[in-house]
Amino acid sequence: MTQLKATLDTRTNHLLHHAKPNAILAFNQELKQLGGIINLTVGEPDFNTPDHIKRAAMHDIEIDDSHYGPSNGTLALRTNASQFLNTRYGTHYTPNEIIATVGVTEAIYATFQTILEPGDEVLIPTPTFPLYAAAVTFVGGRVVTINISESDFKLTPKQLTAAIATHPQAKAIVLTAPGNPTGIVYSQDELDALVAILKTTELFVIADEIYSELVFDQPHISLGKLLPEQTILFNGVSKSHAMTGYRIGIIAAPQALIDQLAVIHQLLVTAPTNAAVAAATEAFGPGANDMIDTGMKAEYKKRRDHLLQAIEEAGLTYAYPGGAFYLWFKAPVGDLQDWNLVRDIAQKAKVGLIPGIAFGEDGRGWLRASYATSYENIVAASTQLIAYFKH
Ligand SMILES: Cc1ncc(COP(=O)(O)O)c(C=O)c1O
Repeated sequence: MTQLKATLDTRTNHLLHHAKPNAILAFNQELKQLGGIINLTVGEPDFNTPDHIKRAAMHDIEIDDSHYGPSNGTLALRTNASQFLNTRYGTHYTPNEIIATVGVTEAIYATFQTILEPGDEVLIPTPTFPLYAAAVTFVGGRVVTINISESDFKLTPKQLTAAIATHPQAKAIVLTAPGNPTGIVYSQDELDALVAILKTTELFVIADEIYSELVFDQPHISLGKLLPEQTILFNGVSKSHAMTGYRIGIIAAPQALIDQLAVIHQLLVTAPTNAAVAAATEAFGPGANDMIDTGMKAEYKKRRDHLLQAIEEAGLTYAYPGGAFYLWFKAPVGDLQDWNLVRDIAQKAKVGLIPGIAFGEDGRGWLRASYATSYENIVAASTQLIAYFKH
């Protein structure tokens, strides 16, 4: 083992010294040790990547596509990705308005690095995916949370107006729909009302729509369609095509902004991996309809409906899970809360859940169940959760 020179230990970025270890990873380790747990903590599809996409990746390797690829992704990928967005969600992006990133994870970091100066504020409705706040902080920005826990976990025009009034200099706002951890989706009217306000501002609107192919009861409505001139749209193949390990996301935005984002993107990664780009080209092109054609969407919906019924039967309050693969429900008031509660549930009900506080203080008192696991697991977990909560 190599020892770091003692005096160098604290000479790294001071922000790292306050970073907390990832509690979800640690909890998953605990669950493994307990054994016999039905794990509803995972945030990635349990399906395999469709075969035709795997073949595209293998073909790319076989033809020795081993040199640095185009930084923003190949024209073929950007063409297919723009057509995917345009035909499915009514946007009007050209291939030059797309960057292929190393997952939406890179898109998040590259975007904040592109738009923020030190001290700039970013409005983040919470609870939400924790990476936005972490990235804002690491690039020197300031997080302004908007608590949406009292409004069915959706940002309301009133909350938005109030946040803008108290933070008139804010640079950007993050809107994630379908939501993680909540699974919420906005209706057309709800989005129109937010867009009417956002149009009057100078805010960049960061729209993370990575779960867009998983909207169950209505068509997905993209901010890339409603507010293209302000929106920095994220999407990708991680969730839509069960390709989390391939690491391909996309940013779609007006070209003037894409050109600036491209500078940071190139600095971060040079270019995404060729075989993954080839696979994503297949996914967005011939595989555009895979979520439906392979039966994945129907399967997710079946699981959602079952789990939702169980939560209703247990008499618990929930946020309506219109999309993604999460069910967000309120823990009963009791002695045990948050991490202690999920530990108890794991020990007694043998089901793994994530406590809401993992997604920000505004998630306190809530629980996230992922249904990215087999229907059999969902059926068994449902029975065990009902027994636990009703006893
Ligand atoms: C809302 C949201 N955005 C982004 C990501 C990361 O996506 P990727 O795998 O493309 O980096 C996730 C993953 O869970 C997510 O839930």
